[in-house]
Amino acid sequence: MTTTGVEREGAGELDRGLGTDVDAPHFQSRHGTKPRSAARSYSAALLTLGAAAIHFAATPDHVSEYLPYGIFFILLGAAQVALGVSLVVVPSRRLYSAALLGTLAVIGLWVMSRTIGLPIAPVPWRPETIAFPDFAATLLEAIACALFILHLGRRPAQRRGRVRVALTNLPALFFAPLMAFGGVGGALTPMPHAYNAAPFVAGQTSHSVADLAAIAGTETIESFTLTAGVTMTRGLQAWAYNGTVPGPELRVRQGDRVRVTLVNHLPAATSIHWHGMRVPDAMDGVAGITQDAVKPGGTFAYEFVASDAGTYWYHSHQDTSHQIARGLIGSIVVESKEAPAANVRDYSLLVHTQPGSDAIAVNGTDSLHLRAAPGDTVRLRITNAVVPGFDGAPITPVLAGVPYVMAALDGHDLNAPQRLGPERIPLGMGQRADIIFTMPNTGAVRLAGLKGTALFPWSTPATASVTIGVGLLPSVNVSSLPSFDLTRYGLPAQDAVADAPQYDVTREIVLGGAPGFRNGSFDFSDTFDGMASPYVPPIHVREGQLVRHHIVNNSPKFHPIHIHGHVFSVLAKNGRRLTGAPIHLDAVLVAPGETWDVAFKADNPGIWMLHCHVLAHASAGMNMTVNYEGIYTPYTMGTQSGNIPE
Ligand code: C2O
Ligand code: CU
Repeated sequence: MTTTGVEREGAGELDRGLGTDVDAPHFQSRHGTKPRSAARSYSAALLTLGAAAIHFAATPDHVSEYLPYGIFFILLGAAQVALGVSLVVVPSRRLYSAALLGTLAVIGLWVMSRTIGLPIAPVPWRPETIAFPDFAATLLEAIACALFILHLGRRPAQRRGRVRVALTNLPALFFAPLMAFGGVGGALTPMPHAYNAAPFVAGQTSHSVADLAAIAGTETIESFTLTAGVTMTRGLQAWAYNGTVPGPELRVRQGDRVRVTLVNHLPAATSIHWHGMRVPDAMDGVAGITQDAVKPGGTFAYEFVASDAGTYWYHSHQDTSHQIARGLIGSIVVESKEAPAANVRDYSLLVHTQPGSDAIAVNGTDSLHLRAAPGDTVRLRITNAVVPGFDGAPITPVLAGVPYVMAALDGHDLNAPQRLGPERIPLGMGQRADIIFTMPNTGAVRLAGLKGTALFPWSTPATASVTIGVGLLPSVNVSSLPSFDLTRYGLPAQDAVADAPQYDVTREIVLGGAPGFRNGSFDFSDTFDGMASPYVPPIHVREGQLVRHHIVNNSPKFHPIHIHGHVFSVLAKNGRRLTGAPIHLDAVLVAPGETWDVAFKADNPGIWMLHCHVLAHASAGMNMTVNYEGIYTPYTMGTQSGNIPE
């Protein structure tokens, strides 16, 4: 569009200029005629061609989104190619003027589309988000415009040698291809507009996940309202449920019917996921798979029966990596049906990162004190919601000052747990450990070893302390302690899933990573089987099947691999079967170089996420789904719906 008025008048002077002046082949005659031709600009040509390349690369995606956009991008790319060539072959002042006006118009359109939206668009007057490719193209165009102006203002009569010409064009020679590379790569691998994890297939799928809700019953109803909103904690902005980070502890009794109304007062869409709980799929809270994210001002009613006792937590599952870090987290405790023993002090400890910082906190504070008297039985329900560093390392709390038992992992009781001395308890992001002890006569114990994430290798991470009771606090040298080993703790017992002679579905999952283009920019992807979400093929299962995973960690990072709606039975670590109690987890922590074998029974129909719970890894690609036969989702992920589950 910018070359419609391309002027050809300089062309006739071309041969005259050649050989005498490399940069300005056909400036005006020396006999006083108005200067009408101009110097050629290799730099402006390179920048314009770079922008053209990005526009061509973005065409397929725009065609699929909205045909008029696709056509516009082809025309724009073609015009920019023509302009780029003309700037070298037939430069003239009129060409520079036309190029300037045309390119400014394109930049203007872009600014409009990113601020107030365009009148002719898939959704008129809705601003689009800025991504790397459109940013890169616009930057190239803006610099080109500066050069157009420069050339218009310059008398083109100077003679310039080849070396000088080469040098002045050197910056553009590097910059234009570099931006074009990034822009083209990004434009060819855009964030999907609408990706469906389990599309409806006529004749094959019959149930929507939306129909997989809790069936009516006569259970005791426990109702809560969680209002997500913006708040301030310690002078920093946070996103919180009911104004506090973490949100309120929800405590219910096993078998209760839990009703939670989510009210969204945030400036962004959100949802709630009940981490570790086997809820009906429609209540799982995953934006783009089990529901649409709740828009600002909207509400959503969650309802499920708390069938399993244990320690769980809840968190947003829309833009999860950011919304968890901002503070949208809380504990949910399901007390067992049996009447609680007397003298039990039962505390849930949500260990987390303070929003807007790298400080570590427990239940919102870096120095928590809990009450307990000598002789009291104390149950600590420790949940790791700390945002880890890039390596995904677990936290390793240590209970010092009293022997204890590991009563449960990820909410599931362990058989015949033995007493433990002080040990580091590795908890990957999302994992829980319940420990039980009797308060000693010395009066005080503490939970040590709570370290935050060091931002840089040389920085000292923040710490948090938890003390229980009053008295002389025990000291402990955390770094010298062994780590708790779940593969040989407690006593063996029956586990139908772990003891099964064979499995109906076996899927190896290789954890890795690679740099590459994804969601519109060049980045490092964390991968399942070399692929990044949403393009990791799902695991297809049928209700009733036994499904086994052989997980191999070929990456230098820790990955707590988490499944929704189901519980893994751990079979083996590094090829060796467990020798202690059966272990049931919703996330298995896989350290660099390790292999783990886990299995689950497909007994909760739906479309379920399976992802690394280091949410930076999940949003970098470590995400897939378990798809039950015959079930589809009407929801999509991507720019169209705004659902971003990671
Ligand atoms: Cu707590 Cu999909 O996760
Ligand atoms: Cu990971």
